Formats: sequence, structure tokens, C-alpha cells
Amino acid sequence: MSVIVDNIAELVTHDPEHGILQDAAVVADGGRIAWVGPAAQAPAADRRVDASGRAVIPGFVDSHTHLVFAGDRAVEFAARMTGEPYDGGGIASTVAATRDAPDDELRTLLAGRIAELRAQGTTTVEIKSGYGLTVEDEARALRLAGEVTSETTFLGAHVVPPDLDRRAYVDLVTGPMLAACAPLARWVDVFCEPGSKHAFDGEESREILEAGISAGLLARVHGNQLGPGPGVRLAVELGAASVDHCTHLADADVDALAGGETVATLLPAVEFSTRSPYPDARGLLAAGVEIALATDCNPGTAYTSSMPFVIALAVREMGLTPTEALRAATAGGARALRRDDVGVVRIGARADLTILDAPSHLHLAYRPGVPIARALDLGMQPSVRSAS
Ligand code: NIG
Ligand code: FE
Repeated sequence: MSVIVDNIAELVTHDPEHGILQDAAVVADGGRIAWVGPAAQAPAADRRVDASGRAVIPGFVDSHTHLVFAGDRAVEFAARMTGEPYDGGGIASTVAATRDAPDDELRTLLAGRIAELRAQGTTTVEIKSGYGLTVEDEARALRLAGEVTSETTFLGAHVVPPDLDRRAYVDLVTGPMLAACAPLARWVDVFCEPGSKHAFDGEESREILEAGISAGLLARVHGNQLGPGPGVRLAVELGAASVDHCTHLADADVDALAGGETVATLLPAVEFSTRSPYPDARGLLAAGVEIALATDCNPGTAYTSSMPFVIALAVREMGLTPTEALRAATAGGARALRRDDVGVVRIGARADLTILDAPSHLHLAYRPGVPIARALDLGMQPSVRSAS
């Protein structure tokens, strides 16, 4: 069954052949893009979706979220707004609330968040564990995440649980927990932050990532969020697909990123919610670093599922043009997940399209807070599935 989306005022493709097309159409067949080009030359299809003079973009690729959790930390957020620093200590309260929640409650919360994401234009999402921190609770989070996405990340090394010795916990994460979680995950991640008493230092992080890689997982890293440190260089050295946050970068970090294969994933909703300085996205692009933008949706540092909000922040606070920010939120996210079938509108890619209630993608940053983006439902299986 083929479907044509036509009457598109502006189609952003990220495909060098087409770039940004005016007066365009897209044909999808069997969930894949089958044709892209000027509306006047479009072939016939079984069904028609009229974009009515609006813009169409690749669906957002949100390559960093923590969507499996219960409870919230609104009081912690309010305290930060009056000067309390963020140090990761609050993660323990989300761990307690998540462990207490039955499977069905977590599944319902997750389904609500997935619906929220799609309603704002996200069509691919990565989801981390990390609020379980026992073998059973981490595996459970990954099983639930796996019901809604194939991009699942084992983050047993989120923080050391308050009741456990640091060395014993690293042994658990790299031993029985990894054995239980590796079959349920595509990625392994670690919160590498040597200055924090909760997170992991460079050597612990290396041990955890290498164990995950040996178990067949691909690496990604939370690095350089709270201060300078070894996270970025470790990620590049180990060939991680992405190092995320990058709030505090030294010149050597930027050089390593520019010379490596690791994407710098920037999470400006975290800087917003923790009153931190924004990373210099413009400087990273100038140095030749590949960047992505993601929400980091989690109850501690960024309780938002909105990629348009992230784009608006990146434009206003991080020196990106609206077009660069959109690319980072789509094609950049795809690179951070080592995917070439999403984040782009080209023949053979997934037909994951997002429509804007606006004639151009510039409106994403120009109309902050206005819900203009939504994932197009073409009656095909999206990469962000609605959990049943
Ligand atoms: O990406 N930095 C570590 N993990 C999350 C925050 C988790 C939390 O505070 O609940 C982050 O910012
Ligand atoms: Fe995170």
C-alpha cells in the first residue's frame, strides 16, 4: 500500500541530492520512502495525505532518554532554581520510586511518554535503563523499553546505589548484571564523572564500557556534564557512537572529537534545568565535530520530551542556525545511533515524517513553546511504537 504526501510547501530531506525542496511530494511504500521530488512530477499512489502548504521534515531522532521511571523530582528542580547545585544524588529517589512500581504502572507511564514524544514530532527514540540498579530491576527496565524501541541502552552504571560499596557495584555491573542485560540491550552507557561521589571515574568507566563491548554491546557515554574529565576522550578512544552532555570541554576534548568517530550529543534542556552554562555548539561545528541534539528526558535534569524546545534552546543559547539545529536533531541523532535509515528523507529510508503547522522549518525555533510539530501517521509501523 503506497501513500503520497503532497502539497508540501517545504520539504527538508538532509539528502545531498535534494537538500530543501519547495512545492514537494514524498511517496512511501511498505514503510519506506519510495519517491521524493517536485510535487508536479509525483507518481500516483494508493492513498493521499494533503500537507496543505505546510513543511515536512524527517521525524526527530531523540538519541538520549531515560523514559522508564516512576515519580518526579519537581521539588529538587525548584530548589535548583534558587541555587542548589545538581550532583546526581537525587537519582536515588527515582530509583526507589521505580523499584516500587509494578510492571504495568511503568508500562503505562512509558506509553504516555511515547505518545507525548510522537505528538511533538519524534519518530525514533533511544531509552536507557539506570533507575533499577539491581540485576532484576535493570533487566526489567530494558524489557519494558524493548517493547517500544529497538534502541535500548544498559545504564546499570548510572550511579553507585547508596547501600553498596563502589567496587562491589562495579563487579556487579560488569558481571551478573551485564550477563542479564546484554541480551536485552543494543548499547552500554556509563555516567563518567570523576568529581561526583555518585557516578564513575575514568578507570571504572573504562572497565564497564570494555566489559559491555566484550559482551557484544556498542558504547555510548555520559561525559563531561558536571565538570571537566576523561569521559569525552575515553569515548573517542573506545570508538563510542556518542558522548553525551559535553558541557565542560577542554581543547584536547574538542581535538579528540574532531579526529574520531564519536558524535558529541548536546542536551541543552539539561543546562536549562540545572542552570548550567550551555556548551559551545558553534565552536564544535567549526572544529569539524559531528553533533546531535537530544532531550535527555528524565525526572532529574531535563523533564521534557520536546525536541522543538531543544532546537529552540540550541539556536538561542548555543549559536546554531535553525537549519543546523534541525539537522542535529534528526540526521545528527541518527549518526549518534549509527543509523542511516532514519533522520533523512531519501529513497529506501524509513518513512518517518514529521509535519509542521508552519510553512518552514525555521518556525521550530521562531515559535518556541508552540506545539507545531507532530509525527505523521501514514498507517505504517513507526520506530517509536505506541506501547499497548
Ligand atoms: O543524563 N547524568 C546522569 N543522568 C541523567 C540524570 C538522571 C537524574 O538526575 O535522574 C542525565 O542528566
Ligand atoms: Fe542522560
